[in-house]
Amino acid sequence: MKPSALDYLLCIHCNKLLQLQDGFKCVEAPQSNAEAEEIISGKLSCPECRRTYDIRGGIPRLVDVSKSSHTDIETGQSFATAWKSFPRMDERYRQQFFDWIDPVDPQFFKDKMVLECGCGKGRHAKIVADCEAKMIFAVDIGDAVEVAYQNVGHLPNVNIIQADIDNLPFGPIFDLAFSLGVLHHMNSPVSGFLSMSKKLKKDGTICVWVYGRENNRWLIRVVNPVRIAITSKLSPPLLKVLAALVALPVYLSAHLIAAPWTRLQTKLPALPSLFYQRYMTYISRFDFNEIHHIVYDHLSAPVANYVARHYFEQWFAEGGLPDPVIRWHNQNSWTGISSHNPPILAMMHERMVGRETPSGEQFKAQIQPKAES
Ligand SMILES: C[S@@+](CC[C@H](N)C(=O)[O-])C[C@H]1O[C@@H](n2cnc3c(N)ncnc32)[C@H](O)[C@@H]1O
Repeated sequence: MKPSALDYLLCIHCNKLLQLQDGFKCVEAPQSNAEAEEIISGKLSCPECRRTYDIRGGIPRLVDVSKSSHTDIETGQSFATAWKSFPRMDERYRQQFFDWIDPVDPQFFKDKMVLECGCGKGRHAKIVADCEAKMIFAVDIGDAVEVAYQNVGHLPNVNIIQADIDNLPFGPIFDLAFSLGVLHHMNSPVSGFLSMSKKLKKDGTICVWVYGRENNRWLIRVVNPVRIAITSKLSPPLLKVLAALVALPVYLSAHLIAAPWTRLQTKLPALPSLFYQRYMTYISRFDFNEIHHIVYDHLSAPVANYVARHYFEQWFAEGGLPDPVIRWHNQNSWTGISSHNPPILAMMHERMVGRETPSGEQFKAQIQPKAES
């Protein structure tokens, strides 16, 4: 962690600013660039309750298992195994990131205080850092933080923190809090969302992407039961082999069927659409390794909630976040953005004008109002 992070980290029990105890170890900054100095090990202590928290491997360890959901801890462990197996960074993540958070654009991050909830291997923290955020705190509940630290811990505006979204060690200091592909894996996605929203400044912005319930009936009815009963319980090496076997036909259909069909449709718009075509075309940009990881994630996660649009909208209402922009991503998931800053929110709505996103009303008739685990 950077020494400057000490201005922000709070005790997760009593919200008091943590203090660095004597005896810590630092890595000197190269070329006397003070911002690149790292505290590698030591202890943080709370002046109020006297609890201490370790800093290990450059990462403050701020998860208290007695305060977190057992399921969320287990989910963190499961994902940590996955990230250790698939630690690779890839240039294509940049486009994927901006597709997920669209209509937020790269300029939005400049000089902002940013919180990423559920950072995995740190692929998004890197992009945000490159967009010249003032500082990004990237948190994850599990040992994925070690992979993230390897990948991006050295960047001067990045701090990797091991913490639970439900017990974030910060005050309301962020211009932007975002979370991609994470809340639906939590025991209580809405509590995670509300916890994030409480860390926004008075004019802060929130952006989350979650699995949608709409158009995912086959995942909910077929893949979910298999994942819960069998695949999430397999040993990681066995699951990796199984995921590769499933990934191969997915990879081939994306590359050999969905993508060519989509190209053909641009010439012959009367052609019918194929099952899951939008998503399959989207993932055809990735190589086999990436699709293998996507399949592994789907089979390994202990929890996966599929969130209906109008339920998703309620999260924003509960968080006191006005009039969210809700965008249907690849026709199988939801991106939601809101801001306490009216001009920013107006700009996000403006960017969505004329773009296809079915309204909650269109879906209400078709689906149950409850997220499913
Ligand atoms: C599917 S991964 C997505 C990671 C990252 N957002 C990305 O897209 O690369 C979900 C991540 O969320 C983390 N996570 C799940 N529940 C969490 C919680 N309660 N607090 C913090 N992180 C959590 C997991 O450990 C995992 O690394």
